Amino acid sequence: MVRWAVMGAVIALVSLLLALAVGCGGGLGPLGLGGDEGMNTMAVVGNMVAFGMSELGMHCMNQDFSKLMILPPFNTLRAQVVDRTGQEPEIVRSNVTVNFSVLGNTRSADKTNFWDFEEALLGFPLAANTGLTGTRLSGPMHATGDGRFEATGIPLTPVMDKGTVNPYPLGSIVVKKAGTIQAITKTVVPVSWEISCNLCHTGAQGTDMDILQAHDRLHHTDLQNATPVACGRCHEQPPLAGVLGSGSPALPTLSRAMHRSHGPRMKLVSLPVNCYACHPGVTTKCLRDVHRQAGMTCLSCHGSMAAVASAARQPWVDEPACGSCHQRSGFEFEEPGKLFRESRGHNGIYCEACHNSPHATVPTVTKADNIQNIGLQGKAGTIDKCSLCHSQTPDEPFNHTLRD
Ligand code: HEC
Ligand code: HEC
Ligand code: HEC
Ligand code: HEC
Ligand code: HEC
Ligand code: HEC
Ligand code: HEC
Repeated sequence: MVRWAVMGAVIALVSLLLALAVGCGGGLGPLGLGGDEGMNTMAVVGNMVAFGMSELGMHCMNQDFSKLMILPPFNTLRAQVVDRTGQEPEIVRSNVTVNFSVLGNTRSADKTNFWDFEEALLGFPLAANTGLTGTRLSGPMHATGDGRFEATGIPLTPVMDKGTVNPYPLGSIVVKKAGTIQAITKTVVPVSWEISCNLCHTGAQGTDMDILQAHDRLHHTDLQNATPVACGRCHEQPPLAGVLGSGSPALPTLSRAMHRSHGPRMKLVSLPVNCYACHPGVTTKCLRDVHRQAGMTCLSCHGSMAAVASAARQPWVDEPACGSCHQRSGFEFEEPGKLFRESRGHNGIYCEACHNSPHATVPTVTKADNIQNIGLQGKAGTIDKCSLCHSQTPDEPFNHTLRD
């Protein structure tokens, strides 16, 4: 017990010093903002430790909304916070404030025309720089009740304030209790508009008009006179169903429509991976993780266009699972019936806290993805440093299971 009190005092002192350092530096300047949008690896571990994670390994959005919208700006950032002061680590669910910002990317309205067309597309207006759920480019993350903090629908673009394109900007997450900083971390908030429909849709009136005209010609619609068109109004898009409704039940979902009709057309292009014609992309390379380094492609996990289009699968629900390839005695992977991004392992810690998002399983080839874990545990790759969360060395070996 004495040892505990001492440890507690040491931790409290360290965090006080860190808090002072932050205070002296004038806000978060020296810690949060490195020379190049936070590419220094600093993290702050005090009484608490925070793990930031993007819900998805990549969010795609359109750049130009004047003709059509497949996806709006909409990033979701999450964090899990662990209190390290007790005998056992404790997942923090309340009594702290958690705030996020995106380093070097603080506004969007001058980078895309989304806020000129959002009312026509969505049916309701949004203030500039405000996303579909009211979230802005910085602000609070809310407790979700399931052991995480979350900011949904951040209206982020891949253009930094200084004008450079960066699909991997860093979000900064700051945890405070009673006004004192307990933990700071940084994690990638991935976003890209590298959707290369223009590889094939090259009409005189531009790519988007070419798409609408092809749709009208083949399916007797009049989309070219109904711009801006939200595809999800007619073809169900589960991520947008709350806003656009669930489409027309007689029509294929947007995923099935796109993958089914375009599968046979992919021979028109020669790309290393066909999926990169529409998913980001040859330049962005959203698959950047351990699997890419092991020589895998999208097809290794998702199968072909025809497989993605299969009527037997439900888009956005029936996705690959780690546990379908990885088997290891004593290990558990996804929780039954849950996606990777909603699953927890090791006594309630989310998979993404230790492994990062799908397609970005650490270590990745993208420097920014590795910054969080280098900052937290001194090296890139899966979180495996017990003392990050456990102030007392656990007596038992590591359990890769939800309950020990
Ligand atoms: C590999 C080439 C290729 C790429 C990449 C491509 N398309 Fe197409 N798309 C076609 C061809 C060919 C047609 C048929 C045009 C026709 O018959 O007039 C078509 C038709 C369409 C149609 C009409 C409906 C239908 O029957 O399919 C839509 C809508 C469409 N594309 C949307 C898109 C969007 C959105 C993207 C990017 C996310 C995209 N396409 C990327 C080749 C491509
Ligand atoms: C007003 C309703 C409506 C809107 C809006 C709409 N579509 Fe369609 N779409 C249809 C109809 C109707 C069909 C024909 C379906 C059929 O024949 O089963 C169709 C067919 C398609 C197909 C071919 C499906 C297949 O399996 O061959 C694609 C691809 C497609 N739409 C993509 C899009 C995209 C991309 C957008 C947004 C730019 C869009 N649609 C917007 C009504 C719509
Ligand atoms: C012609 C364009 C196009 C190509 C090529 C394409 N996709 Fe897609 N894909 C889309 C669009 C558009 C969406 C968004 C659908 C939505 O918002 O619901 C999508 C969504 C998805 C989704 C999420 C929805 C779901 O069905 O679960 C997966 C997974 C996916 N694509 C995998 C692939 C893979 C794997 C490949 C290559 C084999 C591929 N896609 C190639 C256009 C394309
Ligand atoms: C190692 C396996 C693996 C590879 C390789 C892979 N994916 Fe995935 N993908 C997944 C898993 C797992 C999910 C579901 C994760 C979740 O939502 O929890 C997923 C989900 C998706 C989704 C739905 C949105 C999301 O992120 O959940 C899209 C779109 C997608 N993948 C596209 C691609 C494309 C395009 C490629 C190639 C560039 C690719 N994937 C490569 C495993 C993989
Ligand atoms: C389609 C099969 C497949 C799926 C699905 C898959 N993996 Fe893998 N994974 C592999 C292969 C193959 C390797 C390379 C193994 C090697 O090189 O020895 C690998 C390597 C890894 C590694 C590197 C360490 C190691 O064990 O070699 C990690 C970590 C990992 N995967 C995590 C995940 C996570 C997390 C998911 C789910 C989001 C996932 N994998 C989904 C096949 C898969
Ligand atoms: C507290 C951190 C932590 C959490 C939470 C966690 N993992 Fe892991 N995971 C690890 C570590 C550490 C390893 C490597 C173990 C080793 O190789 O000795 C690992 C290994 C893996 C592997 C590779 C296994 C293999 O050797 O083939 C997969 C796949 C994986 N985890 C998936 C998941 C999934 C899915 C979840 C959520 C249900 C999850 N992990 C939660 C730390 C974690
Ligand atoms: C991301 C934070 C985190 C990391 C890293 C972590 N743990 Fe844990 N661990 C927890 C939490 C939270 C609990 C649940 C504590 C409770 O409620 O009893 C736990 C519980 C345990 C338990 C069961 C209770 C106990 O203390 O006997 C063991 C054993 C354990 N961890 C071992 C390890 C080992 C070994 C490592 C390093 C390989 C590790 N943990 C890394 C968060 C973590």
